[in-house]
Amino acid sequence: FSDRRLVLVSNGEPYKHHYVDDEVKMEKLAGGLTTGLDPMMQDVNGLWIAWGRGEADFEVVDQDKKIRVPDKNGYTLKRINLSQKEKDGFYYGFSNEVMWPICHTFISKANYDEDYWHSYQKVNQKYADNIKEELKEEDLIWIHDYHLALVPGYLKAENGPAVSMFWHIPWPAWEAFRTIPWRKEILVGLLASDFIAFHTDLFVYNFLNCAKKIGAEVDFENKIVSYQGSETKVKSIPLGIDYQSFSELANDEDYLKKTEAVRNSYDTEKLIFAVDRLDYTKGIEERLNAIDKFFAKYPEYIGEATIVQRVAPSRTEVKEYQQMKERIDRKIAEINGKYQKDDWAPIKYFYGSVPQEELLPYYKAADVGLITASIDGMNLVAKEYLAVQDNGVLILSEFAGAAQYLDSAIKVNPYHREELADAIYQALEMDEAERKKRLKSAKEDLKYYDINWWRDNFLENWLDCYE
Ligand code: UDP
Ligand code: G6P
Repeated sequence: FSDRRLVLVSNGEPYKHHYVDDEVKMEKLAGGLTTGLDPMMQDVNGLWIAWGRGEADFEVVDQDKKIRVPDKNGYTLKRINLSQKEKDGFYYGFSNEVMWPICHTFISKANYDEDYWHSYQKVNQKYADNIKEELKEEDLIWIHDYHLALVPGYLKAENGPAVSMFWHIPWPAWEAFRTIPWRKEILVGLLASDFIAFHTDLFVYNFLNCAKKIGAEVDFENKIVSYQGSETKVKSIPLGIDYQSFSELANDEDYLKKTEAVRNSYDTEKLIFAVDRLDYTKGIEERLNAIDKFFAKYPEYIGEATIVQRVAPSRTEVKEYQQMKERIDRKIAEINGKYQKDDWAPIKYFYGSVPQEELLPYYKAADVGLITASIDGMNLVAKEYLAVQDNGVLILSEFAGAAQYLDSAIKVNPYHREELADAIYQALEMDEAERKKRLKSAKEDLKYYDINWWRDNFLENWLDCYE
């Protein structure tokens, strides 16, 4: 594919520009899609089209709304400007109050507002128009995620470009998906892609089943959907991380010093680390309940084990997210009040996003990585934690896509408070030989199934559609 340009399209942008004391600064954003794909784009030097969400984003772009993104090799980022009305209807509204909860099977959190839907259609059309403006012969148009389901349909034309989609979040069972009043339009839009991939086999199966329900012809064995004369190939291709960079970093002197500094800033025998975007899918409240149970059941760890919980603000204008933040604040204060002793408190809580570089020393400093998503497409934090560790244990929700691929983690049902409390105990007590054995096997997989494997596998399968 090397002679063809890769045009990556997503709602989230990898870097934003904002003001810090009247000066424009660039910031790398949190979220698996952008942190995961940035290294790939640094390698292939394509064009990335995304919403410019930073307050100073449009002050640094050229007249075509483009900017060269620095870092390793750099690539071009084209920013789309969304009005407040579009942000409210398309982004906060339909994307995050309909698509996100439904795809994560939180049906009761969905708000099927018709205006949201109209805004979603309009903004998807805007994305398609922006792509068409850039289009060169032989371009490969690779669309990402649930904000842009209608874009493939809007791009479709005789002799139109090669279009594919990677869906980063779960695809739900028909029982959940069918509640969306515009379910058919969404599926028809997506089925204009030549190739669609998901993280797991379950999501692929759910998608094929939904396609069948709206009347498409589905070959479940070869995973091909035929609809109105066109064919879409579907496959599971789990996103990997840039393993090489993470493992090189794990031995970098400066990084090791920062790790040491993190470790020394907590007066504790054992450190347990958790980091999430503030999202109801991450199981933060379930985790807190289990932490409460853990200290009640294993009081010998009071004063000996500290949980560092970092939370990155996310979608702060959506009501569900605001309410959840209040509940988390209260619960942490309650647990800390219950178990604190002298200068020690069980949970150190940070609310705020930090660049990934600042997160990584915490990964290495922690004896245990704690991931309890109630449902997640993949969960890159799980992979990142293991990649920099040489001694730690990962506790991983069986409901994160990553669980299908990380057998060496202690798997838990995050809704089972006691099981999770026991898993924390088991992780803290695990002997070194067992920890090292588990890490070795995880690292071999992470190294093989890395971001380059993912990219090559995706492109190979996609381009096979045109043979
Ligand atoms: N992350 C970050 N800063 C933060 C919190 C998270 O850079 O303050 C990064 C983290 O390293 C990971 C990504 O954000 O690469 C989160 O991806 P994940 O797949 O775990 O969850 P998502 O947020 O995409 O649901
Ligand atoms: C998940 C989604 C991404 C999204 C990210 C951050 O990883 O799959 O599409 O960009 O969360 O969410 P945000 O709403 O800030 O873009």
